[in-house]
Parts: sequence; structure tokens; C-alpha cells
Amino acid sequence: MRTGLLKHSNYMEFVRSVPSFKTLTEDVLSKVADVLEETHYSDGDYIIRQGATGDTFFIISDGQVRVTQQKSANEEPAFLSTLSRGDWFGEQALKGEDVRTANVTAIGDVTCLVVDRESFKQLIGGLDNMSNKMYESEEVKAKLEAEAAFFSS
Ligand code: CMP
Repeated sequence: MRTGLLKHSNYMEFVRSVPSFKTLTEDVLSKVADVLEETHYSDGDYIIRQGATGDTFFIISDGQVRVTQQKSANEEPAFLSTLSRGDWFGEQALKGEDVRTANVTAIGDVTCLVVDRESFKQLIGGLDNMSNKMYESEEVKAKLEAEAAFFSS
């Protein structure tokens, strides 16, 4: 019980510090702290594999991860981004299609706090920066599509 309480207050302190969560109420943050599961990875571990199905959302509480993406079947995955403490990933598979859009691998030791699909939907998914999150590659694609539509109308 004591450990449980201590963990909860550590998680609370951490989730309060996550910039994207600053509009969440204490009540919601407390629920997030209740449901999350701490997971550990070592250097090179795949946390997420592109193309797999996924049901979980990750917040990095310690360490760094590398995001890569394979653009076509015969290409090597290309580097997209490095994420660190307070950053999150895995939201794309929780919006609509459940397929992972990129690989995420550990750089050294990594600790993540993992939230399941249902809790994500109830507690976090409504945040503007989650539901509207678009990555540069998609932004470029969306812009080109919008331009093409404009010029063809
Ligand atoms: P998801 O598709 O569920 O799993 C892979 C995750 O990598 C994805 O959610 C995003 O959270 C993250 N991701 C995808 N593309 C990028 C990018 N260009 N930059 C940073 N993170 C990304």
C-alpha cells in the first residue's frame, strides 16, 4: 500500500510536468497516474514496430527513443526524430486505424509509462495536441493534397 501511494505521488508529479498535459485537471491527472504501467527497455529494443497493430500510448519518463519510418518495402527505415523525457508517442494507432505508422526504438535504457487504449480515449485523447497531432511528412502531404484540390476546382 505504501509503495502504491508513493508510486502514485511520483507519477502525479511526473504527469503534472508533461507540457502537453498542462490543461488536464488534477482529477484527470490522478486517473492517468492510476492506470499507467511502467515499462523498461534496453538499447536497441523495439518499443513499437511499424505496421504492427497497437493499443497503447507511451510517455517517456526516462531516456531517449528514436523514431524511424520505412517509406516503401525495399527501403531502409529513415530517421524521423528523437524523443526524450516528457515526450509521448503511439497516439496514431489509437486514432481510427490501429496500425503503427513508425518504428520506435530505445537509445540506451528507457522507461516509459504506458496507457491503454480505453484510458487514453477517456482521459487524454481529447486534448487538442493529441487529436490534431500531425507530423511533418503528413503535413506536407496534406498541404499538397489541399493545393491540388484547390487548383483542380
Ligand atoms: P503510432 O503510429 O501509434 O506508433 C509510432 C509512433 O511514432 C506514432 O504513433 C507517433 O507517435 C510517432 N511518430 C510518427 N511519425 C513521427 C514523426 N515524424 N516524428 C515524431 N514521432 C513520430
